[in-house]
Amino acid sequence: MSLINKNLVTMDDLSNGEIMALFSLADDMSANMKEQYGLCQGKIMASLFFEPSTRTRLSFEAAMHRLGGSVITASDVGASSLAKGESISDTARIIGSYADIVVIRHPWEGAAKVVADYAGIPVINAGDGGHQHPTQTLLDLYTIIKERHDIKGLKIALWGDLKYGRTTHSLIFALARFGADILFCPSHGLEVPEHIINKLVTEYGGEVDRLDNSNDIDKDNLFPVDAIYTTPNSPHQLAMMPDISIQVELRKGVDALYVTRPQKERFAAGEESEDLKADYPIVNKKLLRDKVFQKTMVMHPLPRVDELAYDIDADQRSMYFKQAARGVPVRMALVAALLGVKDAPIPDVASPAPVEYPSYRQDISPVCPNPRCVSIQATETKYLKPEFKIVNQQPLTLRCVYCEHGFEPKFVASADWHEHRRETKKYHSAESHWAKDIKPENLIAFNTEEEARAHGFKPSHFTGGYHQ
Ligand code: CP
Repeated sequence: MSLINKNLVTMDDLSNGEIMALFSLADDMSANMKEQYGLCQGKIMASLFFEPSTRTRLSFEAAMHRLGGSVITASDVGASSLAKGESISDTARIIGSYADIVVIRHPWEGAAKVVADYAGIPVINAGDGGHQHPTQTLLDLYTIIKERHDIKGLKIALWGDLKYGRTTHSLIFALARFGADILFCPSHGLEVPEHIINKLVTEYGGEVDRLDNSNDIDKDNLFPVDAIYTTPNSPHQLAMMPDISIQVELRKGVDALYVTRPQKERFAAGEESEDLKADYPIVNKKLLRDKVFQKTMVMHPLPRVDELAYDIDADQRSMYFKQAARGVPVRMALVAALLGVKDAPIPDVASPAPVEYPSYRQDISPVCPNPRCVSIQATETKYLKPEFKIVNQQPLTLRCVYCEHGFEPKFVASADWHEHRRETKKYHSAESHWAKDIKPENLIAFNTEEEARAHGFKPSHFTGGYHQ
């Protein structure tokens, strides 16, 4: 296995074959736990948890102890020099000189990528804001494979807070890559962000079909499904049917119900309303009595709040404590592989090729509109430049390389300065025909006209009706 010195920041960092190799290693390690002691002797893991954690932190630390390594830890921003205004990059450089591997959890989306860019040692993302939580996804996939032997062709329902739930964001991409169909069952107002749907469709094939819940076709509908992703290999029996047939198809059951709690710590002002509390779907004994759920695994990354009743804990379908327990061997395998102390052959498993997009790297740049993105935080803007991928030309769509939020800038210009004459620096509507002729390497984008003018650009005749 060639995972030595790699980082795990998002699920894009692992191929399907590498994931399966890690699972073989995790199998070996859990079967022979005592024999692993000493593999990481002399190695140090820095465990940096700047958000609360029980499972991820303690299972990583337990994993390192079981491998015979040591752990240094910081678990409170207030007790580290980040509280004095130190940047994440400086912190990463310092930790990189003290430890052999870093595990980081941070509330800013993209923070783990910054640590990976500066630490010079392998970095594992243990959750960066609402962005991704790839090691949770590893143990979720591991659990599905342990219980069902394969992921391909399964129907997995994602339930609850799909807007801020980072575990679901990582899991969506992984399920699609392994060929599962996904049912999106969000609590009202907490639907999957559009940039995730866009990436899912453009990079993993398949299609997302929205359901019209306004018809209320099936009064007994147990699933608050608002969209379905079907893989390119599916017979599309779900996607091709009208809503009523989808409900009939769903009555055949789903293989897993992946429940998440409302991520209140990330809610914007006003999002935590009484309505949301009342609407949040609850999984309990009564719900699981329906024959739709007869063979359904109930999964949850934990911690739970009110969305998962204690009355199903002893039910054989409940997987959440097994999931958490499997975090130790899976994380042992990952740490050992990244440190290069253990190898495993990579099986020949199909994996979609990564999509290469042109980079946006102009000195003049819009800022990422995501308020939780690391790239816009005051301590980080001194050295981090906004950086984007141009993921679509029409409509022009940029994706932040840190938090992966996508957005559509409203105005554009060319760095080619119109025959190199600065006096003809003009900006145009991103929807104008002229905008489509700008080569990616010359593209300058603005979110607002004010931004364009601040950089000395004047409106052209193609600014969407605006004329000076
Ligand atoms: N699943 C998970 O990330 O749990 P913790 O927040 O306790 O680490």
